[in-house]
Amino acid sequence: MERASKHIFAALALILAGSFSITTLAFDWSSVGPNANEESQEEDTPPPPQTEDMIHARGLEQLPNDHWQENNPYRGNAKAVAEGARLFSRVGCKDCHGIKAVSGGTTPDLRKLGPDKDALYLERMRNGSSKGMPSFENRVTQEAMWAIRSYIDVRWAQYNDSDVEWAKNEEFEQYRP
Ligand code: HEC
Repeated sequence: MERASKHIFAALALILAGSFSITTLAFDWSSVGPNANEESQEEDTPPPPQTEDMIHARGLEQLPNDHWQENNPYRGNAKAVAEGARLFSRVGCKDCHGIKAVSGGTTPDLRKLGPDKDALYLERMRNGSSKGMPSFENRVTQEAMWAIRSYIDVRWAQYNDSDVEWAKNEEFEQYRP
């Protein structure tokens, strides 16, 4: 290679390297950085459209399906608790979490899931867990999810001898083991 073309080559290489580092700097790292999660939580995706083959709750007030409820809208509702008890078996929760939500020890005992744990409940139901909990987001309607939650609420109140008003209903006695 001649001297002059070597110089041109080196100059080109420098320009190229320069533009690379500028592109790297200009890239919006916020979309992949540690804050990305927080942002996507704020713009949470709504529940999937409800289809025929999803498992539905019967006879409960419909919820707006454009957003997820943050807290159980049916807590203490006797119809929801009865539906939840049925669905807890029907959907298969009992196969892993035990009959009447009494855990055999290999999965979390849902009787310990107090009413302040709705966010954890919804998170697990929607996304499952890499430790063996499947996702139910596309299999169970939002109404059915909160009905199951209402049943777990009652089992929590019974297990903890809680005197919360919403759990005082003779109908709930049938759910004790
Ligand atoms: C195939 C087994 C399996 C099935 C079916 C299953 N779960 Fe789970 N579940 C698990 C396991 C394992 C964990 C623990 C996951 C972890 O800690 O990451 C868990 C965790 C949870 C938690 C979080 C509890 C806590 O204290 O951390 C909730 C709530 C829950 N399950 C509810 C349900 C409900 C309601 C159903 C039915 C719709 C259900 N699960 C069906 C295995 C299962």
